[in-house]
Amino acid sequence: MSLRVTDLRVEIGGRAVVDGISFEVPDGARVGLIGESGSGKSLTALAILGLLPDGARATGSVRWKDREILGLPDRDLARLRGDDIGMVFQEPRTALNPLHTVGRQIGESVRIHERVSRREALRRAVAEAGRVALPDPERIVSRYPHQLSGGQRQRVAIAMALACRPRLLIADEPTTALDVTIQAGVLSLLRELVQDAGMSLVFITHDLAVLAQVATHAVVLEQGRVVEQGAVGELLRAPSSPVTQALLRDATATLWHPERSHPSVSDAGAAAVDGPAATRESDRAPDGPAAEADDTAPPPAPEGPADSETERTS
Ligand SMILES: Nc1ncnc2c1ncn2[C@@H]1O[C@H](COP(=O)(O)OP(=O)(O)OP(=O)(O)O)[C@@H](O)[C@H]1O
Ligand SMILES: [Mg+2]
Repeated sequence: MSLRVTDLRVEIGGRAVVDGISFEVPDGARVGLIGESGSGKSLTALAILGLLPDGARATGSVRWKDREILGLPDRDLARLRGDDIGMVFQEPRTALNPLHTVGRQIGESVRIHERVSRREALRRAVAEAGRVALPDPERIVSRYPHQLSGGQRQRVAIAMALACRPRLLIADEPTTALDVTIQAGVLSLLRELVQDAGMSLVFITHDLAVLAQVATHAVVLEQGRVVEQGAVGELLRAPSSPVTQALLRDATATLWHPERSHPSVSDAGAAAVDGPAATRESDRAPDGPAAEADDTAPPPAPEGPADSETERTS
């Protein structure tokens, strides 16, 4: 068993927002955590990773390879996140540093795990960029995050998470901000990479159709509690809880009207930034108008480098 969560509770301001959740992730299993907005999916993931916001308190048990990791000191948790457990979040913009090239950032992830020179790390970054099917890896590593499309940035975030060769990947709505066609590509890539490496996956989503594409098992949450869990096939065939039945109805509606799954319910803002037209074009054409693809979202640093020629930071 790689991960075992038992009776996990997270309290914020005296309110139990995660209220006694238990589930297991066997070696090599891909488990989807699913539920409506506010059901406690992200806080469960953050509690496992030791990344809860200030004021939140977790109790219960999180065992990773038979070792209790809930309440470990920050230093031990940081090492665990570098070595064993990787993570990808919904909006890659927040995971990426706007001032550093993507090659440098993927390379730094390699260097967390292995002692290699900067030059070797960059060489490895090219390989990792190719592994997540970023086009023209040699060139794309010298680009800055804002010069990439939303789909490309999410691939960079996945490359960074996988560069450490984790045994477990926790991905919280990694494709929700993406256009549906781009989403499908990122999902199948994620599934293949996890499968090929024999890793385990905890995949968070509010969309049962998305979950069915990646996960082998599902844990359905409602208001911080598990209402149903089991093999994905079983859940699709005979959903027993009203929540799962509703999720299945939504997923079926999406099958007939894929455009309805976008923009997403839980991050309309990010969806608006990475609009379908922008991502669809530039996800496929790295040498195309990548900067224009993002012209609704200026880079956070006003004096940030405008193109790959001006790299000063490595
Ligand atoms: N920092 C916080 N302070 C106070 N309450 C919070 C905080 N973060 C989350 N909550 C509350 O905890 C509950 C669970 O939040 P969580 O983010 O885990 O939901 P979620 O299932 O991930 O939802 P979504 O699908 O919208 O991402 C919600 O009711 C939310 O309002
Ligand atoms: Mg969430």
